[in-house]
Amino acid sequence: MSAMSKGCHVKTQTGKSEEYQYTPLVAAGGREVVVNLEAAAGAWDIGAGYRPLDGWSYNGVTPGPIIEARQGETLVVRLTNRLDEPTTIHWHGLRLPAPMDGTENVQPTISPGEQFEYRFALPDAGTFWYHPHSNETVQLERGLYGVLVVRGPDEPVVDRDRVLVFDDVRLDRGGAIAKPGGVMERHNGRLGNVRLLNGRVNPMIEMAAGQVERWRLVNVSSARYINFSLSGLPFRIVGSDGGLIESPVDATEVRIPPADRIEIVVGPFTEGQRMEVQSLRSDGFRSRRTATYGTVCVGQARASVANVPSQLREITPLAPLNTPPIRQVTFFGFPSLTRGWDFTVNGETHHQGGPVRVGELQVWEIVNRTPMDHPFHLHGFFFQVLTINGKAPQYRSWEDTVHVPPLGRVKIAWLPDDRPGSWMAHCHILEHHAAGMMMHFDVVRA
Ligand code: C2O
Ligand code: CU
Ligand code: CU
Repeated sequence: MSAMSKGCHVKTQTGKSEEYQYTPLVAAGGREVVVNLEAAAGAWDIGAGYRPLDGWSYNGVTPGPIIEARQGETLVVRLTNRLDEPTTIHWHGLRLPAPMDGTENVQPTISPGEQFEYRFALPDAGTFWYHPHSNETVQLERGLYGVLVVRGPDEPVVDRDRVLVFDDVRLDRGGAIAKPGGVMERHNGRLGNVRLLNGRVNPMIEMAAGQVERWRLVNVSSARYINFSLSGLPFRIVGSDGGLIESPVDATEVRIPPADRIEIVVGPFTEGQRMEVQSLRSDGFRSRRTATYGTVCVGQARASVANVPSQLREITPLAPLNTPPIRQVTFFGFPSLTRGWDFTVNGETHHQGGPVRVGELQVWEIVNRTPMDHPFHLHGFFFQVLTINGKAPQYRSWEDTVHVPPLGRVKIAWLPDDRPGSWMAHCHILEHHAAGMMMHFDVVRA
């Protein structure tokens, strides 16, 4: 144990102390970053007091290895499927060529025992994640997900960079992963009864006093919204889905819909301080109570070299806020006699939308005609949020996932660069996506 662990213990149900452990797979350095991933079944240890789960993971760990690379490098991932069902990997948030997007539209699924090589350049710095795009409701719940960190040449200087992955899992009375829950789950999305941070129940995070850290918060839950708080202490938001925002924004809480990423800078704190990584209760049935995901404990002071500038990046607006939309994407849902519940986009399940031309500005309005929250996700391209219920967002950013409020509207703008092919957009509540709340469309050359 390190010198700073004095006073840094978390009592679990069994009274045994747990320490946060999460080792990244560092593969950066050359022009090509080569990573071998193996998807396989295995025991998933979520912490003392819990039975090991029948998990599925990449390289035996949940979350899967953190893949680290630099902007401009090429990522080569050889995925071997050791599961007994087909799988694929979708690279969530990456601007890659359509054939590398990992959906069943652009590649045959990888059968058990087979291998597939993903290969693409990394044009953007940011926090991304990877997950199957095949039987997602089951494969993600079992633990198949991982994070990809791409660093640019001009990152803010911090004393430590961490990845915090939020998940929840639904266990049955016997402590095993519960079977899929039928119509209720199809309607509400699968909400876990055990909260996980980096694949563990209430892990401990040790920080040195006097230091400043960058936390990359990733929500991989099937349906759970996170209202992040660090025991109410102030922090600064510095990034979102598509990398840094323009300037740090002071906050004490921030919403992270399923699939979304938020980057924050925390600290400095003083020795002996303790706080909790929480999701606060808020409106909506998916967050009725405040829940603890992890415990932070501040040890002995260390010198700091942190330097977070007040100007992080410049983001040129794609379009004025009042630009009229050229397309509406309407989310709706209703009971179905045969399937219990259906979710639709523009009146149909698994909607086929019209083509999008390379280079033609897209201003879309996402209309939520349901009384529920839905996180809208666009594959392969970043967008800017112009308005949420008519108002400009708090800061300008690049996003691939955005919260669409109940009975609300979000207007987005994006520019299809020259990557023709078959793409999709969907609600990232995995059960809603499966129940039809998604659309396909082609990007075509003019
Ligand atoms: Cu993470 Cu089709 O999405
Ligand atoms: Cu995606
Ligand atoms: Cu939804």
